[in-house]
Amino acid sequence: MLFVLLFSSLVCQGLSVESYGKDFITAFPENVAYYHPQDPSNTLQITALYDDTTVSITFNHTNLFDGKLQHGQTKTVHFPKYVELYHYASSDNSVRVSSTKMIMVLWFSQRGNSIQSSIVKPLNSLGKRYLISPISYTQMMSSLYNITTSVSWRYNSFRVILINAENATNNVSIQVSSTDNPKNYNVLLNPYEPYQFPSIGSIKVTSSNKVNVLLTHPCVETPGCNCNMVVSPVLPQNLWGDSFVVPSVKNLNSTWLHVTSSTKVKLQGQNIKIEVSSSSGLIPFPYLQSASQFISASDNVSIRLIGPGFVLELIPKTMFAGCYLVQMNSTKGEAFIIAETASMGNVYVDGQLLSSKDWKSIINSSYSSVSVSLSGTHVIWHPDSKIGVYMFERMENGIPYGGPAGILNEDPDRNGCVAEPEQYKTTTAVMTWPESNDYCLNTTQGLSTPDSAKAQQEMSKFLLNDNSSGLLWIGLRRSLLTLDWYWQIGNESEFNVDYTNWAEGHPDKPWKALCASVSQDAKKTFSWKSAPCCTKMRPVCYKKGQYFSDITFDSLNDHLYIVTPQGCNSPLCFLLQFSE
Ligand SMILES: *[C@@H]1O[C@H](CO)[C@@H](O)[C@H](O)[C@H]1NC(C)=O
Ligand SMILES: *[C@@H]1O[C@H](CO)[C@@H](O)[C@H](O)[C@H]1NC(C)=O
Ligand SMILES: *[C@@H]1O[C@H](CO)[C@@H](O)[C@H](O)[C@H]1NC(C)=O
Ligand SMILES: *[C@@H]1O[C@H](CO)[C@@H](O)[C@H](O)[C@H]1NC(C)=O
Ligand SMILES: *[C@@H]1O[C@H](CO)[C@@H](O)[C@H](O)[C@H]1NC(C)=O
Ligand SMILES: *[C@@H]1O[C@H](CO)[C@@H](O)[C@H](O)[C@H]1NC(C)=O
Ligand SMILES: *[C@@H]1O[C@H](CO)[C@@H](O)[C@H](O)[C@H]1NC(C)=O
Ligand SMILES: *[C@@H]1O[C@H](CO)[C@@H](O)[C@H](O)[C@H]1NC(C)=O
Ligand SMILES: *[C@@H]1O[C@H](CO)[C@@H](O)[C@H](O)[C@H]1NC(C)=O
Ligand SMILES: *[C@@H]1O[C@H](CO)[C@@H](O)[C@H](O)[C@H]1NC(C)=O
Ligand SMILES: *[C@@H]1O[C@H](CO)[C@@H](O)[C@H](O)[C@H]1NC(C)=O
Repeated sequence: MLFVLLFSSLVCQGLSVESYGKDFITAFPENVAYYHPQDPSNTLQITALYDDTTVSITFNHTNLFDGKLQHGQTKTVHFPKYVELYHYASSDNSVRVSSTKMIMVLWFSQRGNSIQSSIVKPLNSLGKRYLISPISYTQMMSSLYNITTSVSWRYNSFRVILINAENATNNVSIQVSSTDNPKNYNVLLNPYEPYQFPSIGSIKVTSSNKVNVLLTHPCVETPGCNCNMVVSPVLPQNLWGDSFVVPSVKNLNSTWLHVTSSTKVKLQGQNIKIEVSSSSGLIPFPYLQSASQFISASDNVSIRLIGPGFVLELIPKTMFAGCYLVQMNSTKGEAFIIAETASMGNVYVDGQLLSSKDWKSIINSSYSSVSVSLSGTHVIWHPDSKIGVYMFERMENGIPYGGPAGILNEDPDRNGCVAEPEQYKTTTAVMTWPESNDYCLNTTQGLSTPDSAKAQQEMSKFLLNDNSSGLLWIGLRRSLLTLDWYWQIGNESEFNVDYTNWAEGHPDKPWKALCASVSQDAKKTFSWKSAPCCTKMRPVCYKKGQYFSDITFDSLNDHLYIVTPQGCNSPLCFLLQFSE
């Protein structure tokens, strides 16, 4: 039932906030990093969440790799330098990853000390309508270096990359509103074709099929005469939100907000109270040194936090979720967690409750945040409230990179991160308690055993939808010898019956009633009534869910190199090489 609910919520909105999927498309923007003598290293880290997942990688319509991964395994795929998108206009250089079961894909671009990473969004969280407000590199640099005269920077604008995500021609309309050079035009993109253009003015993209949209800059100046390539996935308009927590990212001396809205919008927070429009440009936001900041908007917007060599698309509160996967490549990783202050004590990392004294409440919000050092791959989850999680790592010069962690489950689950939801079942046939027990052992894992308030709640949710009346057997009965109640959990007996939900007057005297049932009473309290075990009624059967929180992720990371052999100049001369 839970599965049906999750599935329908996904289908109704037409968009998923979850970051795992079976189809991904991305590209590698140009990475200059001050012409570092070392070639860039462009990689995808593919993590399987289920066993026997077949993954294939396609570049320029050529299938480069088909391989099988088991759950918790990660494969790193290295791409050669020329997959990068250097030129404006369309090209062949998109990379597609598809799989038979759900996977997560993490994108890296590294050149010298400059590193960027981001989660690749699956096809079902891409859209057809995107807006990007003006992002002036000159404004950013002038205020960073406190220059008022005009200077010409070598890479004087950010870039937008659109990638046709579907196997069909995509009619993309691009509207650029700028005082200098407004224009409206259409481009027809072939299946999976990327298209790059400079981000000048405010940009509106409307496409006939889904597109992935990246905002990038090959070389954003940083203090110390350096520069970093940056990349930020752009949220489709229907995933925007009206409340945000701006994380207190350490080591950024100058920060701006890049706000995109479709109308005039009021932004309010501890330190700002302004009205922004589609031509507002970058908003200085130097308030993150000591504390995170809560910002609310009068309408849906998207907000990006920008610093020298750093770009972060903020997670709107509406995209907070129950469970995240964080993957840190280095030992200096940091998970930044945002949770409701009232329930911040219930955040888990893998199977362990996170106990931290460092939670700080965020002024003017019901949220608190904490930063946790982590290395390797982990799940972070909350049993009953949605949280926000970012993952950051640090370059050698201390500047952070990273972004929102991958969302595994939108909805919280009391047992962790759901790989396969728990299931309740019933049948129209009526039977005795022992027959019901056999029937459920045959069809699921046994009778439903609501041994906690949460479990009772989940069972009630199922029964509410079942619309029947009368009593149904549950896995609770009395010992003939001691007359103690016990849970029949599959084939096991469990005599600790701490939680109960008996109806008034129940349980009845032992000689009248040795078995227990749940009542479809008119008030829908689903209280329990004892009954003679030979009474015939329908059973409630239960099957446990399966959880990612139980997965051990491999630290062993399989490397796969896509290289060109010596003397082969055509991009099609690909070879695959394995290496440990
Ligand atoms: C920027 O420079 C001007 C003078 O050139 C100075 O008055 C101002 O204080 C400087 N601002 C900052 C933030 O350094
Ligand atoms: C795309 O569509 C074409 C023609 O409809 C088909 O031949 C091809 O296999 C499809 N490619 C993929 C990756 O689905
Ligand atoms: C693309 O869409 C525009 C409207 O946005 C339309 O005028 C144009 O004819 C379309 N082009 C094709 C080839 O379908
Ligand atoms: C804002 O976005 C949320 C989903 O993110 C949506 O439910 C809501 O209707 C939107 N509000 C407006 C005014 O568009
Ligand atoms: C930030 O500013 C401080 C003091 O001005 C400086 O020591 C530090 O190196 C700067 N950090 C970065 C990442 O630029
Ligand atoms: C990931 O870690 C490995 C081993 O420490 C290192 O060689 C590689 O450069 C790192 N990659 C990224 C993108 O940080
Ligand atoms: C935000 O918090 C400050 C200090 O706690 C308080 O004075 C102010 O009224 C609050 N503003 C809003 C909009 O809640
Ligand atoms: C359980 O399954 C066995 C073997 O399939 C069958 O013989 C038996 O009748 C089933 N019992 C019930 C209660 O369905
Ligand atoms: C219960 O025990 C029977 C017989 O020993 C076995 O076939 C069945 O798999 C067990 N069921 C569960 C859920 O453990
Ligand atoms: C129960 O009733 C509701 C509302 O009448 C309906 O939407 C739902 O499909 C019914 N469920 C079943 C299992 O018949
Ligand atoms: C893509 O393939 C076409 C031929 O199928 C080739 O002409 C082109 O150079 C290739 N592009 C890249 C970037 O590999």
